[in-house]
Amino acid sequence: MRAAPPLQNMSVPSLASLALALSIVASLALAPVQPALAREANELSVVSLTTNARSSPLGIDSEDVSLAWSLGAQVRGAGQRAYEVRVGARPGGAQTWASGKVNSEQQVDIRLPSAIRLQPATRYYWQVRVWDRLGRPSPWSRPAWFETGLIGPSDWGGAAWIGAAADEAGEPRPLMRRELQLRKPVRQARLYATAQGIYQMWINGQAVGDQFLAPGWTDYRQRLQVQTYDVTGLLRSGGNVIGAALADGWFRGKVGLGWSAVYGRELALKAKLRVTYADGSTEDFGTDERWRSRPGPYVRADLQDGEHYDARRLPAGWNGPGAGDGAWQAVVLRPDTAARLVPQPDEPIRATEVRPAQARLPAGAGGFIYDVGQNVVGVARVKLSGRAGQTVTLRYAEELYRRGDRQGQLYTENFRSAAVIDSYTFSRDETVVYQPRFTQHGFRYIEVTGLDEAPALADVQAVVLGSDLPAVGELRLSHPMLDQLVRNIRWGERGNFLSIPTDTPARDERLGWTGDIAVFAPTASRLHDTRAFLSKWMDDVRDAQRSDGNIPAVVPQPGKAFDETGVGWSDAFITVPYAVWRATGDTRILRRNWAAMRRFYDFTHASATADGNLLEEGRSSWFSGDWLNLEGVDRLHEHRLIATAYFADNTRMMAEMGEALGEAEQARAWYGLAERIREAFVQAYRQADGRLELGTQTIYAMALGMGLIKAGADREATGAHFVAKLAADHHHLKTGFLGTPWLLPALSGIGRDDLAMRLLLNEDYPSWGFEVRMGATTMWERWDSIRADGEFGPVEMNSFNHYAYGAVGDWMFQHLGGLQMLEPGYKRSRIAPLVSHPAVSHGKASIRTPYGLLASEWRRAADGLHLIVDIPVGTEAEIELPCAELAAAREGRHVASHAAGVRHASWSDGTLHLKVQSGHYEFQVAGSVAVE
Ligand code: BGC
Repeated sequence: MRAAPPLQNMSVPSLASLALALSIVASLALAPVQPALAREANELSVVSLTTNARSSPLGIDSEDVSLAWSLGAQVRGAGQRAYEVRVGARPGGAQTWASGKVNSEQQVDIRLPSAIRLQPATRYYWQVRVWDRLGRPSPWSRPAWFETGLIGPSDWGGAAWIGAAADEAGEPRPLMRRELQLRKPVRQARLYATAQGIYQMWINGQAVGDQFLAPGWTDYRQRLQVQTYDVTGLLRSGGNVIGAALADGWFRGKVGLGWSAVYGRELALKAKLRVTYADGSTEDFGTDERWRSRPGPYVRADLQDGEHYDARRLPAGWNGPGAGDGAWQAVVLRPDTAARLVPQPDEPIRATEVRPAQARLPAGAGGFIYDVGQNVVGVARVKLSGRAGQTVTLRYAEELYRRGDRQGQLYTENFRSAAVIDSYTFSRDETVVYQPRFTQHGFRYIEVTGLDEAPALADVQAVVLGSDLPAVGELRLSHPMLDQLVRNIRWGERGNFLSIPTDTPARDERLGWTGDIAVFAPTASRLHDTRAFLSKWMDDVRDAQRSDGNIPAVVPQPGKAFDETGVGWSDAFITVPYAVWRATGDTRILRRNWAAMRRFYDFTHASATADGNLLEEGRSSWFSGDWLNLEGVDRLHEHRLIATAYFADNTRMMAEMGEALGEAEQARAWYGLAERIREAFVQAYRQADGRLELGTQTIYAMALGMGLIKAGADREATGAHFVAKLAADHHHLKTGFLGTPWLLPALSGIGRDDLAMRLLLNEDYPSWGFEVRMGATTMWERWDSIRADGEFGPVEMNSFNHYAYGAVGDWMFQHLGGLQMLEPGYKRSRIAPLVSHPAVSHGKASIRTPYGLLASEWRRAADGLHLIVDIPVGTEAEIELPCAELAAAREGRHVASHAAGVRHASWSDGTLHLKVQSGHYEFQVAGSVAVE
C-alpha cells in the first residue's frame, strides 16, 4: 500500500503566477511537509469494531473469524500505520491471541490465525490499538465481543430432534413445551435452536428473540442454521416453562412453483438451553422425551398460502408456568439428520418497520381495503373486534385493478398458485391485535372481510419483514422521479432479501434466482452492508454446486426444477462475491469461496476452449440470452455473444480477485487470458466498420461497458453505432436483465452522459421513469408490468417487486451521487458528480464503508457550485469539478488547490482535478455551471 504523505503546511508559488502557468493544462504536485505541531496524542480514534462484518454477533462459527474496525480523526489525512489486536475470554485479556504490533494499514478482514481453536458457546472480547502516521499509538479501543455458538455434533449432546405424534400437513401445527426447575440463581443463559420447518420459542410466556421465520432457508438436506439467543432475562430460579410453536416454512410448506414437502414431511425441533449459574456451574436442557406436545392454534401455516389462526385452539397460559400439561402428549423422537448444523452467520429476518395504512378504500361486499402506500414484504398487523367463533379474513395484493368491472378490487391473479390469505377465528367476544407469524406476503393493499365494522385506519398496519442488513447507502436527488426511483430500488432490495435473495416475494416463486442477484449485487452493496447476507447465500451456492463445477439457476436448489445452468445466472458465483468485495474491500467472501469459484471458472474455461478457441458459446439454457429484452432477436443467437463477453469479464474479475488474495502469478495469467478473449470477441463479432453482430442494445452495452472494444478509433466507431442504434430506437431502452446494468455505464464510458441521462429521464414506455409515473413503489419484473392504459402485463409471469432492473442504481450512485470506487472498499474513490445536467441541481450520496462514511453533496446554485465531501480515514479521493480556472475553486477559506489535505491539483479543459486525503471538505466554485 502507498503511504500518504503527512499533513501539509503548504508553501507554493503565488496564485497569480500559478493561474498563468496553468491556464491550459495545470498540474501541481504539492510537496509534503511536516505538520506544524507534533501533537503528543495519537490523532486516531477507533470508532467501530466488527466481527465477520457484524457488530457483537451472538452465536457464530468458530472457524474463519474476521475482524475489522474503522477510524475517526479530527484532522485531514490521518491514517493508520500499524495495529495490534488482542483477543481473550475477558475484556482486556490476550489469552486467546495477541497479534503483536503489525506494520500495516489493513483495517478490514484481519483474520484470527487458523491455528487458534475457539471454544464453542464462549464469549470472546477483543480490542485493537492503532499507530497513526507519525507512529504514535492510540489507547486500546473499548472491547468488542463475539460469541461462538454450538459447533460440532458433540456440543449438542442431550438434545434430540423432537416432533409431535400427530403431525400431518392437514393437522393444526404443533405446540411443544417443557417445564424445568432451576435450583440456583442464574448468571447467564443461552438458548440454541433450529427446526425442520420454522419455529418460535417462548420462555415463561415471553417470546424468545426478535427474529421471524427462523431458521431461515438453506438446503436442509445439507445445512441447517442454528440461532443463538440470550435468554438470561427470561429465566428465574425455580419453575420455568419453555415453549415452542412449529410451522411448515420452506421445509414442508410450498416453495417455488407450489412444490410442497420438498425437504420432508415431519416437522421437528432441536434446541438446547444452557444455563450458567451464579456459582459458575452449568446445566443443559435439551429437547428430549420430557417435552410434551399438542396441536395448536395454527390450523394452516404456509409461507405462500398464508396462515389460519384459530384462537379457540390456544391452551390458556400454555407457555407459562403452572398451566399443567396433562392433556398434552409425549413428543416423538425423530431420526437425526445428515445435515450440518451451523450457527446462522447473517442478520436474522426481523420486523424492520411498521407502516400504518394511509387510506381506506371502498371494496366489494362486506370488505374493506387498506392501502399502506408502499409495496412491502411482511404481514398485516390488525386490531380486530369480533364475536366468539367469528372468522376474519385478510387478503393481500400488490395492485388493485385500475380499470374494468373489477376496478378498485384486489389484483391477485399474478400470485399464481399462492393463495396469500390469512384468517383469524375469535375464541370469545373481544378485541385482539392479530399479526400472522408463520407466513410472508408481498403487498401494498390489505383487504379485511368478515367483520361487521371497518377497522379504523390506525388499526391496520403493515409489518415489514426482511433480513435486517445494516443500511449503509443513501442517495437523494432533486429530481422527484429519480429520487422515487432510488426509493423503489431500495424497497426492491428490502423485500427480496429474506433469508435468501429472491426474484420476487409475492407470487408462487420466491426463489434464489442466481441471475437476478448477479446483476443487482453491486447496487445492493451500495445500499446495504451485504457481506454477511450474501456470504451466507454463497454458502448456499457452494452447497448447490454441481460435480462439474457449474451452478444451477436457483439456489437453494430445491431439486424440483430450474436445476439447469445458464450464462449470467450461474456466473453469480463470480459476480456476487466480486461485487461484495469491491464494495467493502473485505476479502473474506473471496477466501471462503475461492476454491469453489475456481472450479466454476475452470468449468466455463473448459467449455470455451473445448473447440480450440476462446469463444464461450456453450452452456446455454432457456433463460440464457438477455431475459425479457424487447429486441425480438433470437435469444440463443445473442446468447453466444453474451457468453463470450461474460467469459472475458469473469476472467478479468478472477484476475483482480486472485491478485487480492495474493495469487499474483495466476492473476497475471488471467489478465493475459482476458485480453486474448477480448481479442477473440472482437475478431468474431465486430465488423470492420465497427458494427457488432446482431447489433442489439445489449450487445453494444456489454461490449463497450465491459471494455471489450479498446479505446481509440475502434471504440469510437463502435460507440457511434451504439449511439445510432439508440437513435433508431427513439432513445428508449430495449435491454433485459443482463443488458440493462451495462446500458448507462457504456454510454458514460464513451463520453455520452447526456444520452445516459436521456434514457434515465424517459417517463414513457419502456423506461424506469414509466414505472414511477405509473405509481410503482418497487421495481417491476417487466418494463410493461403495468401498461400505459392501466392493464396489467402477462399474468402468467408478472411481478411488481423484482429488483433486477434496479441495477441502474449503481450508475446513479456513481454519476449523480458522484461516488465512484477506484479501489475496493473505496480505499481510493473518485468524486465526480454529473453537475451539469439541467434536470438535477442537487445530489446527496453517502456510503458507510468499512473505513467510515464516504459522502458527497453537491448543489448548483446562483453563486456557483457547492460540493461537500467526507473521505474516510485511511482512504483517499480524486475529486473532479467543472471550473473555469484553477483559482476559481475554493475550499473553506482557501483556494482549493492550497487547502490542507489536498495532495495534488491540476486543471485541464475546464475541469479541476484534486487528489485529497481523508477528511471533511467544503468546496465552492464561483460562477455559473454550464448546463448541458
Ligand atoms: C424469475 C426471474 C428469473 C427468470 C429466469 C423468472 O421466473 O422470476 O427473475 O431470473 O425466471 O429466466
